[in-house]
Amino acid sequence: GAIIFSGIQPTGVPHLGNYLGALLRWVQLQDATAADKSTQLFYSVVDLHALTSVQATNSASNGAVLRQRRRETLAAMLAIGLDPDRCVLFYQSAVPAHSELMWLLSCTASVGYLSRMTQWKSKLQLKDDASFSDEKARAGLKLGLFSYPVLMAADVLVHRATHVPVGEDQSQHLEFAREVASGFNHVHGQPLLVPPTTLLSPARRIMSLQQPTQKMSKSHADERSRILLTDDDKTVRSKIMAALTDSTNAVTYDLKTRPGVSNLLELLALVEGDNLYRAVTSSNASIEVAAQALATEMEGKTLGVLKKRVAEAVIGRLAGVRDRFADVLELDGGAYLDRVADHGAKQARNNTAETMDAVRTAIGL
Ligand code: TYM
Repeated sequence: GAIIFSGIQPTGVPHLGNYLGALLRWVQLQDATAADKSTQLFYSVVDLHALTSVQATNSASNGAVLRQRRRETLAAMLAIGLDPDRCVLFYQSAVPAHSELMWLLSCTASVGYLSRMTQWKSKLQLKDDASFSDEKARAGLKLGLFSYPVLMAADVLVHRATHVPVGEDQSQHLEFAREVASGFNHVHGQPLLVPPTTLLSPARRIMSLQQPTQKMSKSHADERSRILLTDDDKTVRSKIMAALTDSTNAVTYDLKTRPGVSNLLELLALVEGDNLYRAVTSSNASIEVAAQALATEMEGKTLGVLKKRVAEAVIGRLAGVRDRFADVLELDGGAYLDRVADHGAKQARNNTAETMDAVRTAIGL
């Protein structure tokens, strides 16, 4: 059977980019495989990954902050419809095999490959062609950020994932995971690890509402740049009405010259009813086609009309999520979430045993 694995960092309440790029797909995969018990679904709150960015310096409340964010992320996953009876939902750090396999993979993974990864280079704040030799730039960088993709490879490989649903920004990491798997298999002369297939969301890259040439992100300073799954209707409306577009007051689709308007059209195409999203997902028709069709349909309309339609569509799509989120967080005085996480961790730990036994035997541990 298929094994589906994906992860999300607990860096705050998930945003619309996380939702359309990944979480909605997770729910769809759950629903689509409801009758097929041979498909297993693992969705992890990757708290170890979040350590590369979330922790403040000289702050005694780091522990409390991360614990709260993990809970909020798990609550959001339940609020959008993931079912703990169907999916294994767990905190990454509760399953030590992730870190153990990471070390084992580190001993065959290539530093050269890692240093060419886009995300690392952007954190280095060097130009794409610059080398890893600027002493000053390196001094403040943490080893964990550099080896981040190795932990991510361990996440999927330890569970023998066959399919990994993610947004476009993660596809390079998954290419690396495949490379690590084949490299490891090669060294040990046997097919121990399964190179996973990337399931790229049709949403690919949802852009920031304030800087439409950058992806919507949890770390962006301007809160109006993203819609959180828990934003109330008024907040959603005001963020979308304030979205940065351009001075042409007409609806046309052109990613290069009109990134702001085009992002709104893509959002609308993805959000307006499940059916379109499903159609885009299953027919492989690209989001461009759907967004272009909407632009044609809205020809002659103003940007204000487009924004209102996007806002109402997003509000409709997120209806109920905010209330369920609040309920789930409070359920049983918070104990419900702990139970879900503990149950998931047990199942996840069980699932890692097979991989770890084989890997340790092959290595000689
Ligand atoms: P993270 O936490 O940044 O994001 C979670 C998921 O949301 C997608 N995403 C987006 N999709 C479209 N547009 C956007 N603006 C946008 N922003 C985020 C991401 O592609 C991702 O699918 N390294 C991963 C977490 C991870 C993981 C894994 C994923 C750790 N181990 C193993 C898959 C498999 C990350 O930082 O995602």
